[in-house]
Amino acid sequence: MTLLRDPGAAAPQRRRVLVTRAIDPAVIEVLRAHVELSLNSDDADWSQLELIERLQGHWGALVTVGERIDAALLDACPELRAVCSLGVGVNNIDIAACTARGVVVTNAPDVLTETTADLGFALMMAAARRVGESERFLRQGAWTRWSCDFFTGMEVHGATLGILGMGRIGQAVARRGALGFGMPVIYHNRNPLPAEMAEPLGARWVSFDALMQEADHLVIVLPYSANVHHIVDARALGLMKPSATLTNVGRGGLVDELALADALGAGRLAAAALDVFEHEPAVPQALLDRPNAVLTPHIGSATRTTRRAMARLAADNLIALAGGSDPLTAVNPQVLG
Ligand code: DGY
Repeated sequence: MTLLRDPGAAAPQRRRVLVTRAIDPAVIEVLRAHVELSLNSDDADWSQLELIERLQGHWGALVTVGERIDAALLDACPELRAVCSLGVGVNNIDIAACTARGVVVTNAPDVLTETTADLGFALMMAAARRVGESERFLRQGAWTRWSCDFFTGMEVHGATLGILGMGRIGQAVARRGALGFGMPVIYHNRNPLPAEMAEPLGARWVSFDALMQEADHLVIVLPYSANVHHIVDARALGLMKPSATLTNVGRGGLVDELALADALGAGRLAAAALDVFEHEPAVPQALLDRPNAVLTPHIGSATRTTRRAMARLAADNLIALAGGSDPLTAVNPQVLG
């Protein structure tokens, strides 16, 4: 657990930036040309207290979705002016607290859209076609013969795809379903999409309850905020078809995980696939116990190309801010200027 100070860069006027996790070395080199870096080269898991200690004297931080940037941390790190995340979701950052203290926050939209949609679709298919369950069966040496009702799952092509949260990633999932698999698409979002975006996908806005009732495969890609905590609760799950599947690539806090485990165990829902968890990396035992749950460790954006692009966008934001320019993707632009 070492914090390495960039050996070659000590010009006092250069902004000091802490990179909280190990990121692509090529991006480190780009940053190094502009700011003085402190690194977490061995990708150590710092406690909150340690993070605060490491941040002392730093003007900027390049963070991931794993660090908590809250009011207490900001108060303990008064020199911190820029928090640039390589994730698109910013539920780990108290934006209001940053804004109140004049700290600029940036995120990394767009660069991970298609990659995260790929995983969302893959997980939905894995749940529907019982990929995890049947693979475990084979590995256990339990496969002795073929039979007609062997791991029968749910159709994907032609089935109704329901999307909760029709932002960039939601639309990318919808494109895969509508154009690749002939799936009628319904969605729920605060606002319906403009017709020119919805019509090519045949995507129909429905109420939240109608989404739950009509979807054969529900994919959740809503950004998390306190207002939508456990939006998919026992009541909502009770509206779903027993033959339906639920996939969550948004944030864990959107789904009541214990209610979901109950529904899966009682046959009130066919299957689920979760890439995000409310208290990750902890996963409730009730979900681990469900064979019809596909569980992955928050890998939605995890391809080398995309992780590099995410880190690069965060770095470009820091470089712009360090040079006195506006960042590319500010979350609280009202702080600028
Ligand atoms: C994000 O950027 O919010 C993703 O969840 C990280 O993969």
